[in-house]
Amino acid sequence: MQELLSALTKRRSIRKTESNLPLTQADLAFIKKTISQLEPLFKDIKVDYRILKREETDCNFGEYVLAIYSEKKENYLLNVGYMFEQLDLILCAHNIGVCWYGWGGIKEEVLPNGLEYVIKMTLMKCEEQDYIRATPNRDTSFWEGEHQELFATCKLSPSAHNSQPWRIKADADTINVSRYISLMSSVSKLLTYFNKIDMGIFLCCLEISMKDKWTRTIYPETNKKEHLVTIAQYKRS
Ligand SMILES: Cc1cc2nc3c(=O)[nH]c(=O)nc-3n(C[C@H](O)[C@H](O)[C@H](O)COP(=O)(O)O)c2cc1C
Repeated sequence: MQELLSALTKRRSIRKTESNLPLTQADLAFIKKTISQLEPLFKDIKVDYRILKREETDCNFGEYVLAIYSEKKENYLLNVGYMFEQLDLILCAHNIGVCWYGWGGIKEEVLPNGLEYVIKMTLMKCEEQDYIRATPNRDTSFWEGEHQELFATCKLSPSAHNSQPWRIKADADTINVSRYISLMSSVSKLLTYFNKIDMGIFLCCLEISMKDKWTRTIYPETNKKEHLVTIAQYKRS
């Protein structure tokens, strides 16, 4: 847990095209074992993956590419974000650089088991210095109310186009997490898809930041045209 908390502030998207340190078979075995132990938000949503060499994909960085597939059930994008952000952070702690990669597609869109392509992550062996960066560009006005200390770490969550769609309202015993939708944006449909993944990523980072015990409720997925959609509520237990 402490390892993941440190990774929250260490991580950044790694976009390297070359490395003197290739990922070894042991690294790949570690990645597969880690994936098998990821905690889902919803145990009944089937998720699968393929690990491909970058040359087999349309990604322009990373040595390997993890293609993520899922059953298309309610909140499946939230589930993918929540699960695979755990992988991002664990790999960061082991200096395996990751970048979520929403651009483009994949050759094998549907696996033989029927699970459909969702998103990719690039994978690249790193050194500690690869994680050094200038102060990340994050908006700190997105958390209203109490428990602002939690935001210090979870505001660093990655998001598509750094769009930071999370909005939080909190009092002493309740934290409400919503997704902001820019209805004006010309890319809003695409961004809405990725922002659902972003929100799962954010919930993962938020829960790692929490020291106290909170009980989580996830709201049903909605495609209502509203600026703010409530995603989850945490109650102090
Ligand atoms: C769902 C999702 C999709 C993303 N897609 C891409 C992408 O296609 N290409 C890319 O270079 N970065 C992509 N990113 C990385 C974001 O640009 C990055 O997380 C954001 O700019 C914040 O920077 P940081 O991760 O270094 O903190 C994606 C991130 C997320 C969460």
